[in-house]
Amino acid sequence: MTDIKKGLAGVTVDETAVSKVNPETNSLLYRGYPVHELAATQPFEAVAFLLWNGELPDAEQLAALRRTEREHRALPDDVRAAIDLLPTSAHPMDEVRTAVSVIGARETAGISNVMDAVGTPEENLQRSIRLWAQLPAVVAYGQRRRRGQELIAPRDDLDYAANFLWMTFGEEICTPPQAAEHVEATEAASVPAPSTSSGSSASGGVPDPVVVDAFTRSMTLYAEHSFNASTFTARVIASTLSDLFSAVVGAIGALKGPLHGGANEAVLHVFDEIGTAGNVVPWLDAALADKRKIMGFGHRVYKRGDSRVPTMKAALDTLVAHYDRPDVAELYDALESEFVARKGIYPNLDYPSGPAYALMGFDTLTFTPLFVASRVTGWTAHIREQQAANALIRPLSEYVGPDERHIDGYVADA
Ligand code: SDX
Repeated sequence: MTDIKKGLAGVTVDETAVSKVNPETNSLLYRGYPVHELAATQPFEAVAFLLWNGELPDAEQLAALRRTEREHRALPDDVRAAIDLLPTSAHPMDEVRTAVSVIGARETAGISNVMDAVGTPEENLQRSIRLWAQLPAVVAYGQRRRRGQELIAPRDDLDYAANFLWMTFGEEICTPPQAAEHVEATEAASVPAPSTSSGSSASGGVPDPVVVDAFTRSMTLYAEHSFNASTFTARVIASTLSDLFSAVVGAIGALKGPLHGGANEAVLHVFDEIGTAGNVVPWLDAALADKRKIMGFGHRVYKRGDSRVPTMKAALDTLVAHYDRPDVAELYDALESEFVARKGIYPNLDYPSGPAYALMGFDTLTFTPLFVASRVTGWTAHIREQQAANALIRPLSEYVGPDERHIDGYVADA
């Protein structure tokens, strides 16, 4: 009897030098560095450099990466036009998938021999940086167009995370929450309108540093997690020597699912269903009776907690205090304590990330695209590693269909 490992659970299929997930010690290393140390000390640009190059950047390398990233922040007109072809009711993950497909077709235009589609390691490093640089504009534009708001041009004076927030919220993200409640209509009118030109805006406030810090930490925590479903999808596509963008488009499709990246969006749908902490017990009674999976809990690898949760929960706690939202903390704590007590299944990163992104002001449907903008660094590191291996991924299957049978009257050619 063939030993089938459904879902490849517990199966080690290859080696990687990009990251190490250790369920025994509940730890995660990016190229050897504990992720919580990186989240506490590094800008996201440095983490991206580390994943792509294997070492943290020195000052000059970081400056060079920042220059390149800033050069590619603006949303290209043809990518914007492709997004505009979609109804505003399209899921933002479909918008992002479409945009990456257009970006990829532009980047690889003119390659007429499929043998050249894979590109060289250096070409793919530069493609990775450009794609990573453009994703904030894609995600930010998606949320703004759904709200009927104009595109906001990037700013050269802000780092990756702060500029991402600026392009999404403009001056709204620069006003401390306490002040925001007291801004009069007249005062609001005096706030300089965000620039809508495709060039960088010359002016603008400073995005709230509390939000920038929490958002930066979330980007670092989401960046990489060994052979998760979307990364493995990217590796399978890369293993055929297809191009980097095709592999990222496939990974986006895998990440969208609620058993994977879509869970951070689904956590907020759960919070909306429950409403207040007082409703947790009856809600959970009904949900478990219906054998529902509770979004934001459980993990295929970690079985007693997710190494990233403490860092993201601390960021959520900071935002709860910053925006004076104890109700969010009460609901979060009530659902966690009740579910862990009943099932012994612990939160994963998506559980604290969902409410944190909601407090930052992101629409619920924007949450998983945020995951894409971060995880594209890990995906592209793995894509380049798989391409270098030059080895097709093609598992076996156990046939359980009908026994061999034949077409009535068929006679083989003599
Ligand atoms: C991510 O792999 C990665 O690294 C992914 C990720 C990354 O960074 O890339 O960490 C990001 O995808 C995190 C996971 C986000 N998904 C969710 O929060 C969705 C809810 N979680 C479950 O669907 C589930 O926990 C999985 C899919 C995450 C993991 O499932 P497994 O390992 O396949 O475990 P299982 O489904 O076989 O569950 C074992 C038992 C089952 O009960 P029985 O059928 O044995 O009675 O535990 C139960 C499950 O029903 N269970 C849950 C549950 N998770 C497991 N029951 C209710 N709610 C849950 N969340």
